[in-house]
Amino acid sequence: MGQEDFYKVAMMERRQLPKAGTLEIAPSILSADFANLKAEVDQVTAEGIEIIHVDVMDGHFVPNITLGPVVVKWLRRYTDAVLDTHLMITDPKKYAPEFIKAGADHITFHIETVDDPTAFIDQLRDLGVTAGVTLNPETPVESIEKVAALCDMVLVMTVHPGFGGQSFIDDAARKCQRIREIVGPDIRIEVDGGIDVSTVATAKSYGADTFVAGNAVFGKPDRAAAIAAIKEVMNG
Ligand code: DX5
Ligand code: ZN
Repeated sequence: MGQEDFYKVAMMERRQLPKAGTLEIAPSILSADFANLKAEVDQVTAEGIEIIHVDVMDGHFVPNITLGPVVVKWLRRYTDAVLDTHLMITDPKKYAPEFIKAGADHITFHIETVDDPTAFIDQLRDLGVTAGVTLNPETPVESIEKVAALCDMVLVMTVHPGFGGQSFIDDAARKCQRIREIVGPDIRIEVDGGIDVSTVATAKSYGADTFVAGNAVFGKPDRAAAIAAIKEVMNG
């Protein structure tokens, strides 16, 4: 099978993000037990979680290293959740195809790393995945104004990328308001960093509908209780 056919087959099997209009928690495996990932993911999907957030760090764009396509490949074998793959890497154009081949469903790249984001979004779609752009807390919202509406989901970093367990940056989260004006109701806005029971309502009030939670889910011993607690505030 040639590479093109491979992508075509793979495309048919891609999981789609839930249609915009619902509120979703996307637990980040960054805070999970990496020696026990299947069980960790099963625990949250058993609670109705449909999106698993996969944080990819290269030790260059951010000062931490996490995982590569091989982890996505094995996750893909064991879960039907949407693999929401957040590339915190200097060269997403080089590596995105590898993550897609491994079974990623949605790829988010940082605007700080790509010169021609429109072309890259097209390329991601051609490779069979949905596309997302994100921006660091210090990056102005203007940097994504032209491409936000071309995405399936826009990710707003609410901490400086690199580590889990940091505090929510309210000024960064407020960018969701402008982004919601740009993209309208049909494109998801995801927030990432410092989301927990004390911040999820604020992020929602700014227009976010998809809430990454690492420490607030996988950092808690009882994942069902952790998800229920966030859901209660999120849906309140
Ligand atoms: C930060 C990552 C986040 C992180 C969030 O660089 O992109 O996805 O896992 O973790 P918490 O929810 O613990 O802030
Ligand atoms: Zn992330």
